[in-house]
Amino acid sequence: MAEQIHFSTAASKQQIYEELLPQISALISTEKNLIANLANISAVLKQAFNFWWVGFYWVEEEALVLGPFQGTIACTRIQFGKGVCGSAWQQKQSIIVPNVGLFPGHIACSSASKSEIVVPIFNHNHVVGVLDCDSEYESHFDETDQIYLEKIALLISKTLCL
Ligand code: SME
Repeated sequence: MAEQIHFSTAASKQQIYEELLPQISALISTEKNLIANLANISAVLKQAFNFWWVGFYWVEEEALVLGPFQGTIACTRIQFGKGVCGSAWQQKQSIIVPNVGLFPGHIACSSASKSEIVVPIFNHNHVVGVLDCDSEYESHFDETDQIYLEKIALLISKTLCL
């Protein structure tokens, strides 16, 4: 397994994601333990983009339960349909929140977080978890993040369907 990831620091966001994708794919294709893979993906995204918080919540019965992440401590359980994470689970689609203060029911794990993107992870047609990225800057996430974070979610899905 590679011990380091490589990306061009002066490159565009899209370019960095393009460089990360094959490395993430290689990283998780050789390991079948889900927690290990989610932990490493959190680390890759933190290292590349220095998001305020990046990590996973995983579906356990009626709630999303905190999984591997990088950042400050976070709420451990989120109910279906609650907050941005629970809404992405319910709607089965990614949600970009440019200003968390304007999102009804937003769950503030950290007052420093100003914008957020949540991407669902599927096993077949069921949401089994979400990837959540928070920024301390408003309007930090856009369609480029959505496209590439969804590609990362798909890579994770593929490891679940083996
Ligand atoms: N803000 C999220 C909760 C998780 S933390 O941001 C890590 C939400 O509203 O679902």
